[in-house]
This record gives sequence, structure tokens and C-alpha cells, in this order.
Amino acid sequence: MENKHAGDRATKYWDVSAAEGAASGHPTREHDLNEAIQEAAALLRAGETVAFPTETVYGLGADARSDEAVERIFAAKGRPSDNPLIVHIAELSQLDEIVLDVNDTARRLMEAYWPGPLTLVLPVRPGAVSPRVTAGLSTVAVRMPAHDIALRLIAAAGCPVAAPSANRSGRPSPTLASHVGEDLAGLIGGIVDGGPTGVGLESTVAEAGPDGTVTVLRPGSVTAAALARVAASVHTDPALHSGRGESSPAPRSPGMKYTHYAPRGSLRIVRGQDPGAVVARVQAELAAAEARGEVTGVLAYDEHLHHYRASIAISLGPVGALENAAHRLYAGLRRFDEEGATFMVAEACPEEGVGLAVMNRLLKAAGDEVIDV
Ligand code: TXA
Ligand code: MG
Repeated sequence: MENKHAGDRATKYWDVSAAEGAASGHPTREHDLNEAIQEAAALLRAGETVAFPTETVYGLGADARSDEAVERIFAAKGRPSDNPLIVHIAELSQLDEIVLDVNDTARRLMEAYWPGPLTLVLPVRPGAVSPRVTAGLSTVAVRMPAHDIALRLIAAAGCPVAAPSANRSGRPSPTLASHVGEDLAGLIGGIVDGGPTGVGLESTVAEAGPDGTVTVLRPGSVTAAALARVAASVHTDPALHSGRGESSPAPRSPGMKYTHYAPRGSLRIVRGQDPGAVVARVQAELAAAEARGEVTGVLAYDEHLHHYRASIAISLGPVGALENAAHRLYAGLRRFDEEGATFMVAEACPEEGVGLAVMNRLLKAAGDEVIDV
């Protein structure tokens, strides 16, 4: 792994994955968890970076108010400085310190989905967070994660915590602490290992207009349908759907314009209405690649996986339960790299519900290489 030991700093590591899974109140585990959280919070207060689990993916946290602390995030990730960060809070009382105004729709979304995997873009209170967090925008993205360790860490740190996903820029977001270690060991202050994350894809990023209209800037597991239960109307930034033309506008969420998650080998997506045609095309692509001497990989739904022969075969779960695909996608992409896959095929899924988020991330990984059958 090119960045595995790139850094020469000592990165602290706390394994509290058992504590997280244990029945709450178990005295020894509760003690270990509390100690880890206090130590990690002290690092954050000292201006250091700490990776921690959330319900979506691992985040790389730092004190959002401190230029130097936030700069450490950008340096460790190799992140472009024009890509703003999400600020994480543990309590609603922290919100007023950060933002100027929360309109009625945004307030109702918070009531419905916080804590949870929904990030809201709100007008920033000038001077409240480092300008590096907002990349000079007049808005700030805020979320309250639904994860006990994350909430306790943020509360113990006593500051708003800026936290992008804890991967090197261009790598899949981490869904395990070991993914964080692969990318960032030696480059960050610490890693709190809380076991695997739940959702597996980053939060939905949305903005609520004063007229009650909600715009999805990055799709996630809080779907357009879920937002529509609260908002007057919901629309998705058209730049996020596949098959967009050359003339379509740039995405409004700055991070969406970067190529992300690209595996080292070549990945393409096979998409079609007729399952038989999809299976036949995936089989043909894999067979041709094998004949060329490629190390092949396939990402497929359980209904079809048994039809395929590949060096690395990864299940995305049943096509009827796409939350499994969300949960497994990034670990699967990392496995392709680990096992040296040079040619990979992924099955498309319908761009509905959480499927929109799965396809959005998969299309980025594939550099929009889609074979329609
Ligand atoms: O689930 C998540 O959201 C994870 C966990 C760690 O909380 N965090 C995460 O952060 O995915 P990051 O930095 O990898 O993605 C932040 C996204 C980017 O696409 C960024 O451009 C967008 O949020 N964003 C941040 N501030 C924004 C703003 N003011 N306006 C529009 N988009 C913004
Ligand atoms: Mg990210």
C-alpha cells in the first residue's frame, strides 16, 4: 500500500470495538471506553487529528475552530483545499454557535433525522469555524452522527469537530478502522476502533431553501423519499444522476466533482433491464479479460453471483436489499486493490432509494464507464 507507512509519527490506537458491542453498563468495558474517549478528546483539544467511527464511515476529526488543527486534516488526507468539511456536533445547543439561521424545513429535518446520516448545509456564523472548514463558502455543512462513540467523543472534546471521511483523498471511504490505518497510520494523531460502521456510504448532504424545497447535493441512506416526508418538495442535484450530458452543470457540493474511490485496475459497470442480458455480458467481459491474462474481479448481486467466474468475487447482497450493497461496496473496492485485480466488472442497480447513493459512488469508482445492454 503506497501510503501505508508514509508517515513517521506515532499514531495512537484504541480498540473499543468490543466495548461498543457489549451490553451497555458492563463495568470493565465501560471503563475502557471512557478512558479511550477521554484520551482521544484530549488529543482533539490539543489540536490533533483523531479518526473515529460514525454510523456511515470513519471520520478524521479535528477542532473545527482551529486553523492549524483543520490544516492537519487536509495534510494527512492530501485533500484539495477547495473541498469543504462537514462539522460534527453532539448536541443541538452547539448549532447556534456555528450557524446564523435554521429555517423551518431544516429544523423539521433535524427533528426527523438527527442524530443520523443527514448533513445539512446552513448559513455559517462568521468566525465560528476556521475558514479552511468552509473553503471560503458562506455556508457550513453540519451533522449529528448516530453513533455512541462519535457523540461521546465530540461531547468530551467540547468543540465542534470537523471530520471528512478518514481515507487518503481518492481512496474509498473507510468502513473499518483497519482501512483508516492502511491509509493514514503515521500521518494522524490517533484512531478509535469502534468496529465496522453501519451504513457504509457517507451521509446524505442536503440544503433546505426558505421556500421549503430541499436539494440533495450528495445522495446517501436518508433518501429523497425520506426527505419528502418532511419537506414540501425534494429535488436531486441533476449532476448526480448517471447518463448526464456534457452540458450539465457542475455539482453544487464541491466534493462531488472529484474522481473518488477509483480502484487501481480498470472497473466498468454493466447495466440493463434484462437480467439475462446483464449476466451474459458480465460473463463475456470476465472471460475476455481472463483470456488476456487479467486478474479479474466481479461485484454482483446474490441472484447472479453464482453465474460468474472471477479471481475475486464480491457479493453486494440481494438486489432487493440495497442497504447491503451500501454496507459492502467500499470494503469490496479495497479488496480488489489488495488482491491485485486489474480488470473488474460491477452490476448496476436501480437508481432509486439508497440505490441512487450506491450507483453514485460506483459510477465515480468506474470513472463513469458504463456498458448498457
Ligand atoms: O458520512 C459522512 O458525511 C462522513 C462522516 C465522517 O461523517 N463525512 C464525509 O465527509 O463524508 P467528506 O468531507 O468526505 O464529505 C463532505 C462532503 C463533500 O462532498 C463536500 O464538498 C460537501 O460535503 N460539503 C461540505 N461543506 C459544504 C458546503 N458548505 N456546501 C456544499 N457541500 C459541502
Ligand atoms: Mg470523503
